[in-house]
Amino acid sequence: MKKKITDLIKKKNKKKIVSLTAYSKNIASILDNYCDIVLVGDSLGSVLYNYKSTREVSLSMMIEHSKSVRMGIKKALMVVDMPHNTYRNSKEALKNAKKIMLKTKCDAVKLEGGKKIYETVKTLVKNKIPVMGHLGLLPQSDKTFKFKGKKKLERQNIIKDSQLLEKAGVFSVVLECVETSLAKLLTQNLKVPTIGIGASKYCDGQILVFDDLIGLNPMNYRFVKKYANIRNEISKAVSNYSKEVRKIKFPNKNNSY
Ligand code: KIV
Repeated sequence: MKKKITDLIKKKNKKKIVSLTAYSKNIASILDNYCDIVLVGDSLGSVLYNYKSTREVSLSMMIEHSKSVRMGIKKALMVVDMPHNTYRNSKEALKNAKKIMLKTKCDAVKLEGGKKIYETVKTLVKNKIPVMGHLGLLPQSDKTFKFKGKKKLERQNIIKDSQLLEKAGVFSVVLECVETSLAKLLTQNLKVPTIGIGASKYCDGQILVFDDLIGLNPMNYRFVKKYANIRNEISKAVSNYSKEVRKIKFPNKNNSY
C-alpha cells in the first residue's frame, strides 16, 4: 500500500523511519520494499558525477533521475531534493517545486536551511507542496565538512531554525551531522519526525546514501556503516567475465542464437 505523509508523522515516538537515497529505477525498486522514504538526493552530484559539491547539480538533472526513480517506487514516499539556486526566493521556489512535482510525480521536496527559507517553506506548504527540511550540515552552503552543534551559538541557531521550519509546515526534518545531545533535544522538542544522518540513534529515523551503505563508494565516513562490500562483488563478476571472454568461454552455445 502506498505510504502517506500522515503515516510517517504517526511513526514519531512509535516506530523508527527507514530512508535511503536512490538515483535510478532498479535500485529504487529494491529500496521500495524496505524504506518509508526514498530520497532522490542532490548527493548524486558527488556520487555519480564526481562534482566537488552539490552546488553544481541542476534542476534538470534532479528531474531526470527522479523520473527514473519514480518508475521503481510503488509504496515508499518519494522525496526530491531541490538543488542549489532553485529556491532563492518564494516565487522561484514555487515555480521550480511545481515543476519537480509535476514532472517527477514525487510526494515531497526537500530544502536546506532554517530561518532563511522560512517564508519559502510557508509558500510551498500553502500551495500544497509537502516539504522536508534539512538542518545541521548543509552541503549546498557549507564550505567544509564539520559536524554541527558543538558551539553554544550554533546549537541555539539550529534549535531556532528547527522551530521555524516546524512553524512553516515541514512534515519532517533531516538532521545531518548533528551532535548527539542536540539531535536528541531536537527530536524531543519537535512534533514532526527527525531523520538523522550522522546524527545519532535518537532521531526518529535514519537515512544513508545508498552507495555508501553497500560499500560501492570506496570512501569511509564515521557515520556510515557498510552493510555489504559491493565493490568486491562487482570486481569478482567483472574479473570472471573478462577471463571467460579472453578464453572464449563466454558466450557459449546457451548464450548464442
Ligand atoms: O543529498 C542527499 O543525499 C541528502 C541526504 C544525505 C540526506 O540530502
